[in-house]
Formats: sequence, structure tokens, C-alpha cells
Amino acid sequence: MLELKTRKMTTSVETDTGLTILDHALKHNVEWGFSCTRGTCARCRCYIAAGRELLAAPTEAEEDRLEPEELEQGYRLACQCVVKQNGDIAVTHKPYF
Ligand code: FES
Repeated sequence: MLELKTRKMTTSVETDTGLTILDHALKHNVEWGFSCTRGTCARCRCYIAAGRELLAAPTEAEEDRLEPEELEQGYRLACQCVVKQNGDIAVTHKPYF
């Protein structure tokens, strides 16, 4: 399962491998702030509280947009971050503002 947490709500959805975190949010009508979908605006930024090992490695866009420390701490861009394997993942929307 994938737990999606925003300021307004927490929703659990089935994981679909190959889809990004943002794809999951949109598919299940979760209001998840985003804008560019290309990894540049960071509006979709999120914190992976659990299941980091089930996600594909950060994309080049994430490496460019996020600080190395952020990636290390578990911050990702939801529009870039692909679910690689089924399992329990928990993600909190954490835009800069
Ligand atoms: S939507 Fe712009 S970085 Fe993800």
C-alpha cells in the first residue's frame, strides 16, 4: 500500500509499479500540489517516511533540483519518483511553501 499524506488528508492506495507518486495521487483523486511534472518547480516535493527501498533511484532532474542532503534525508519529487516494487510506502507532501 501507498499512504499519501497532505495537509488536508491521508489516503491509502494500492501501489502500481512503474507509476510515480504523483501518478498515484492523480489516479486516486488526491489533491497533491504540483505544476511542471518535469522535476523543476518542486511543488510536488515530498518526504518518504517509509519504503524508500521500494522506489526507483532519483532521476537526473531530482539530482539537479534537490540538495544532496535532502535526497539523503528522504525528500523526493513526486512527479519523478517511480514506485519500483510493491510494499508499504508512506509519503508526505512537503513543498517548500
Ligand atoms: S511537479 Fe514540478 S517538480 Fe514535480
